[in-house]
Amino acid sequence: MTMDKSQSLFKLTRLRPDFHRIESVDSTNNMVKTLLKQEPPQNPIVLASKQTGGKGRHGRKWLSPEGGLYLSVGIDLRIPVEQSPILVMLVGCACVASIRELTGTKVGLKWPNDLLIDDRKVGGILCELVTGLKDFYYVIAGIGINVNTNLENMHPTVQRTSTSLASIIGHPLSIERLAADIINNIDTRLDQIESKQGIDPILREWLEYSVTLGKEVSVDLGEQIITGKAIGITRDGSLIVEQGNGSPTHVTVGDVVHLRSDDTK
Ligand code: BTN
Repeated sequence: MTMDKSQSLFKLTRLRPDFHRIESVDSTNNMVKTLLKQEPPQNPIVLASKQTGGKGRHGRKWLSPEGGLYLSVGIDLRIPVEQSPILVMLVGCACVASIRELTGTKVGLKWPNDLLIDDRKVGGILCELVTGLKDFYYVIAGIGINVNTNLENMHPTVQRTSTSLASIIGHPLSIERLAADIINNIDTRLDQIESKQGIDPILREWLEYSVTLGKEVSVDLGEQIITGKAIGITRDGSLIVEQGNGSPTHVTVGDVVHLRSDDTK
């Protein structure tokens, strides 16, 4: 375990962190998985300055140069495993709350869990469920945020569709501080869902931060693309899309595109 600035900023009641601040790794999610196999049931947390094999959703790559936040948290599940999708939403809410607190920037959540500022992606979350660890289920919550990332050397498509926090607020931001704040916000929300309050406060918070609901969307389901209005979210995190014929479809996995109103005419 390494002592690091971020660790002194932790205010934790639920998580028992086994914190690793490292320079470079293939993927912080992979490193947490390895740590979990060695020594559950602590909460391994890895914060890396860069990744050489960062993973995105659907097997995509996550470009991970210096300047970004690459953070993974191993969370032991204390709710029924069927409810584990709520953790993806919980982590999304924790990230939005932290970015808003530290930068005052109005970041929102695009379903299922992209962090967006003015329709440009500033971060993403990859949650992986780990089974087979004695009696425990773990969720590895991997968070990637363009904090001080220089996007100028990146592919033109990335430049067009992405942004960084530093470019929005006009100055660099402490990655350690943001990481600690996100971890603290995950901690309080875990306490909440494991208490009598259950998952309802997270569902409400997610709705408040959502920039997808109410929008016309097209969803790539792999074998087909559907279009319609995003009208809600189920308790297991599926997006409810109302198609032209009025029938609601529940989308569990897929890529969503927000359509402008003139795209749907
Ligand atoms: C997405 O596709 O939007 C999710 C991207 C998640 C990237 C983060 S960076 C830290 C953690 N380690 C990884 O390999 N991926 C996640």
